[in-house]
Amino acid sequence: MINVKQKFIEFFTTHPRNHREIPSSPLVPENDPTVLFITAGMHPLVPYLLGEPHPLGKRLVDVQKSMRTDDIEEVGDLSHFTFFEMLGNWSLGDYFKKEAIFWSFEFLTGKKWLGLDPKRIYISVFEGDGNAPMDNESTLYWKDAFAAAGITAELGHPKQGVIGNARIFPYPKTKNWWGPAGQTGPCGPDSEMFYDTGLQVHDTKVHGPICHINCNCGRYLEVWNDVFMQYNKKTDGAFEKLAQQNVDTGMGHERVTAILEWLEGKVSEPDPFQTGLFKNIISSLESLSGKKYDGMYKRYMRIVADHVRSASFVISDGVMPGNKERGYILRRLIRRAVRFGRLLGINGLFMKTLSEIVIKDYQTDYMELNKNSKVITDTIGMEEKKFGNTLGRGLKELDKYQVLTGKIAFDLYQSFGFPWEMTAEIARERTQKIEKKLFEEEFKKHQELSRTAAKGTFKGGLQDQSEKTTKLHTATHLLQQTLRVVLGKHVRQKGSHITAERLRFDFSHPRKLTDEEIDKVEQIINEKIKDNLPITTEILTLDEALVKGALTVPEARYPEKVKVYSVDNFSKEVCGGPHVGFTGKLGTFKIIKEEAAGNQIRRIYASLTG
Ligand code: ALA
Repeated sequence: MINVKQKFIEFFTTHPRNHREIPSSPLVPENDPTVLFITAGMHPLVPYLLGEPHPLGKRLVDVQKSMRTDDIEEVGDLSHFTFFEMLGNWSLGDYFKKEAIFWSFEFLTGKKWLGLDPKRIYISVFEGDGNAPMDNESTLYWKDAFAAAGITAELGHPKQGVIGNARIFPYPKTKNWWGPAGQTGPCGPDSEMFYDTGLQVHDTKVHGPICHINCNCGRYLEVWNDVFMQYNKKTDGAFEKLAQQNVDTGMGHERVTAILEWLEGKVSEPDPFQTGLFKNIISSLESLSGKKYDGMYKRYMRIVADHVRSASFVISDGVMPGNKERGYILRRLIRRAVRFGRLLGINGLFMKTLSEIVIKDYQTDYMELNKNSKVITDTIGMEEKKFGNTLGRGLKELDKYQVLTGKIAFDLYQSFGFPWEMTAEIARERTQKIEKKLFEEEFKKHQELSRTAAKGTFKGGLQDQSEKTTKLHTATHLLQQTLRVVLGKHVRQKGSHITAERLRFDFSHPRKLTDEEIDKVEQIINEKIKDNLPITTEILTLDEALVKGALTVPEARYPEKVKVYSVDNFSKEVCGGPHVGFTGKLGTFKIIKEEAAGNQIRRIYASLTG
C-alpha cells in the first residue's frame, strides 16, 4: 500500500524540490478571530504569504489538519468530510506556476510516486474576469507537461464536455479561485487536477445536461489544487497585487487514498470510508449495529465515522462542547453522530468506543491524540450520555407536530438539546413542513445570544448554559417580579448567580422576609409556571426598553441596543438570555434559604424540582 503522506513529503523535500517540512498547526487558529477552524493549509501561513520571512525558508511542505463545517449535512457521500488532512507544498515568493505545475504532474504520474495514468488526468484553469485575466500561463505549462508524457492536451469548453483532445477546461471564479480563508487576505486563481474514474454515473437530471470535469457526478474526482496567490483581498473588497508571488497547493489525503486503494483493487469503489483511513471505525460500527456497510446504512455509517473522527481531533485541540461557536459545532457533530447511531439501531453508548479507535489509528501521525486520549474519550462519552437521555423524548415531541414552528424548534433546543440544524434535518427527512421564516427569526435571535455571550457581555451571571441553568434563569426573572408584587416596587436586582443546582438572587429590601411572604412568593411563581406563559424577546434601544418598563440592573452598563425578555405580560427585563420558551418547563419553584447579603440587601437561594 502506498503511504501517500510519506511519498508527498519525500517528493517535496528531495532535490531539486528542496522543501522543508513543517508540522501541522492545531485546528483552532492561533491569531485569527475571523474563522472558527483552520480550513486549509494556507491558513496558518497567511503572514508568510503576505511577505513575512518564514524561519524555514521559502519552500515548505506539510500535512495540515483541516476542518470545514459549511456542509456538515453533505457528509455521507463519497467526497465530503468535516475533518480532513490536506497535503500541501508552498512557495513563499519563490517558484511559481511553471514549477508548481510540472511537479504536480510528476508527483501524480511518476512511477516512483503515485503512478497514476496521465491519460486519466484532467485540468481546470481560471477563465478570467474583471479582477484577473484568464490563466493562459498555466494552460501552456499543462500542455507542455502532458506533451512530455506523449499526450496532446487542448483547451476545451465545459459546455461541450470531454471530447477529442480537450483536457484543460476554463472555469469562472466560483470554481477556480481560492481564498481568502477569512474575509480578507491572500488569494488568487487556481488550477485543479481531476482523475477520471471512467465510472458511468452521470445523470442528466441531477448533474446537468453534459458531463464535464466539474459537474460533480463522481466520474471526475478532484485530487489536487494548485493556487497561485498573487492578490490580497482588502477590507473594501478590492484585489491588490501582492508583493510576492506564492504557490499554495492542497491535496485531499482521503480522496487520493481512496483512488489508489481502488486502483489496487482493495476497495470496491473510490470510497475513502472503505480505505485504511476509516476501515477500523466502520467495522466497529458494523459489529456495534449488527448492520453491514451497505445500502442506506453506508450513509449513516459515513456520517458517524466522519463526525467521531472530527470530534476527537477538535477536542484534542482544546475545544469543549458548548452552546456557541466551536463548542457548538463540536456539540452538533457529536449529537448528529449519536442520532445516526440510533438510526443504525445502536441503542447503547458507542461513541466513546469509536473515539478510542480514532485515537489508536491516528496517534502515530498525531501524538497529541494519545496525550489527550482521556479528555477526548471522556468528553465524547459524556456528551453522548447527556444527549442520549433526551434524544428519544425530543423525537417523540417532534412527532406531535405537523408544522414545525420556530418556537417548537427553539423549545426542542432548550429542553432536549436538539441543535437547530438537527431539527431542520429531521423535519426534512420526514417531509414535515417548517415555517421557515419563524424558524429563521428564532434562529437569528439565538445567534444574537451566542454573539452576546461570545463578547463577554453576558450579564445573566450563568456559569453554563445547560438546560437547568436556562430554567433557573427564567425562574430568576419570575422571582424578581414576584418580589416586587409581594414586597413592593423598591425591590431591584443587586446580584444574580446560577449553577445547575440553584439560583441565587440578591435584591434591595430593608428587612428579613416573613414565612408568609416566602410562602406567597413561592405560590405566585408556581402559579405562573402552571399557567405556562410564553417568554418572548425583542430588540430595543435602551431608552425604548426603559419606557416600556423593562427592568435593568442599576449598576450594569448596557449597549445602545438591548434585548428585552418578557414573561407574557408579567415580567419584562433587559437581559442577554437565554430563557426557556414557556414557563411550564420549569417544574416546581422552591425557596431554600433567605438571608442578609449586605446593608439593605437580601439574598434568596431557590431551586426547581420535577
Ligand atoms: N488552499 C487550497 C485549497 O484548500 C489549496 O484547495
